[in-house]
Amino acid sequence: MQDASMVGRICLVTGATSGIGRATAEGLAQRGATVWLAGRDATKGAAVRDAIRAASGNPLVEFLRADLSSQREIRTLAAELHQRTDRLHVLVNNAGGIFFRRTLTVDGIEATLALDHLAYVQLTLASLDLLTAGAPARVICVSSQAEASGRIDFADLQAERSYQAFRVYAQAKLANLLFCRALARRVADRGIVANAVTPGPVATNFGGGRGVLGRITPLLFRIIGRPVEYAAASVLRLACDPAYATVTGKAFYGERERTTSPQSYDVAIQEQLWQVSVALVGADDDARG
Ligand SMILES: NC(=O)c1ccc[n+]([C@@H]2O[C@H](COP(=O)([O-])OP(=O)(O)OC[C@H]3O[C@@H](n4cnc5c(N)ncnc54)[C@H](OP(=O)(O)O)[C@@H]3O)[C@@H](O)[C@H]2O)c1
Repeated sequence: MQDASMVGRICLVTGATSGIGRATAEGLAQRGATVWLAGRDATKGAAVRDAIRAASGNPLVEFLRADLSSQREIRTLAAELHQRTDRLHVLVNNAGGIFFRRTLTVDGIEATLALDHLAYVQLTLASLDLLTAGAPARVICVSSQAEASGRIDFADLQAERSYQAFRVYAQAKLANLLFCRALARRVADRGIVANAVTPGPVATNFGGGRGVLGRITPLLFRIIGRPVEYAAASVLRLACDPAYATVTGKAFYGERERTTSPQSYDVAIQEQLWQVSVALVGADDDARG
């Protein structure tokens, strides 16, 4: 099902070695796009790249290794992007996870905030010149319905005082929406749209890892979750469908636009979070409001 409008479009998908990201990358490859898979594991990445090439018959699929919880590795990824291309048409910020114990990244930042939110910010801002050159371009941020119970705790953004994995995850997923809406506003005049997907439970490896919770969580999601293709279809619609070319600052699941939590529309919180996030990643804020 090649899509003539996607041939020649360059798409970067983070967290493309598993779950929603992998299914999205495969869908983009099937449509004939050039697809770059970003992930942290080179061996797994090469295997997924080969599998997607074989399944789609599209050779224009590459793997780029980067641990997106590391700011240095995101900078290196951005530098590699700039070596490979002078434009980018689609950026899917998807890599994410939940950490059942408070964990710090190599940069000393709480890992959920770093991976699920700050990586979206840093990679998007580092790619903004490429997206501008590729315009019309589309940014998609994979958030979660968990955002509804989220609150941005500016006094304790990194949960130093008390840590509850789901609360910290919900904060990061709310941050995805706040970032996406602030971004949409700032890049509207550049021909870039930014939208979010807020999947409900999806049958993926989400939450997998060590310990009892790391074993139980993916099993639970496999029982209660929708098929991964359903979530990927939402991302693919936003990435490819001409009907969404000018839609921006919205959240979707399935074909439907979704009303998200009241706090996710709060422009003051969006702006405060933008400033704090840009400072935390030391980004060149090319999209200053
Ligand atoms: N599944 C759900 O029910 C659900 C619901 C709402 C929202 N979401 C969101 O959907 C997104 C994708 O999750 P998923 O459900 O598809 O889970 P998944 O199957 O666990 O996929 C997560 C992806 O992120 C990658 N990743 C994790 N840490 C990374 C790091 N430090 N650097 C680079 N890549 C990293 C993983 O790489 P590896 O393959 O190396 O592990 C994997 O490719 C997340 O943002 C999640 O919050 C999921």
